[in-house]
Amino acid sequence: MPSTKCEGHEMLYAELDKYINSVKDQPGVLINVLHRAQELFGYLSEETQQYVAEKLNLPLSQVYGVVTFYNFFSTKPKGKHQVKVCLGTACYVKGADRVLERLKEELGVELDEPTKDGNFSIHAVRCLGACSMAPVVLVGERDFYGKVTPDEVSKIINKYKEE
Ligand code: FES
Repeated sequence: MPSTKCEGHEMLYAELDKYINSVKDQPGVLINVLHRAQELFGYLSEETQQYVAEKLNLPLSQVYGVVTFYNFFSTKPKGKHQVKVCLGTACYVKGADRVLERLKEELGVELDEPTKDGNFSIHAVRCLGACSMAPVVLVGERDFYGKVTPDEVSKIINKYKEE
């Protein structure tokens, strides 16, 4: 176990160990372990990938290959509120790229990186199945915003700012 970890972190690694031991001999173990690790840590840091590789006796390159192949794995921490901008065709032609640019400006971050306070991260996604509302922004899993203009971005963000 990495030695520089705080107590909470160590507990998460202990949890991960428990899981690894319970599934070690099953087929498809790597993907399952990575899922569990992401559930515990929120994302898969290099350190976590290294840890999983060692525990499963696999080369790090194999672990890294799987992590980068599947887009449900994330190598960077996500914000508490994930702001997803649809860049599918219908949204793109209605100006989703300008909405995305304004969001980045407003929050001072690039795609897939959390704000300093950890409150937000921005993600580009494919068609969200709401093309008639294009361009579409989804905050979290349920809050859909349709026909969003760049000028509306700050109003949307403000709703989720911490008191
Ligand atoms: S392209 Fe954005 S919702 Fe379909």
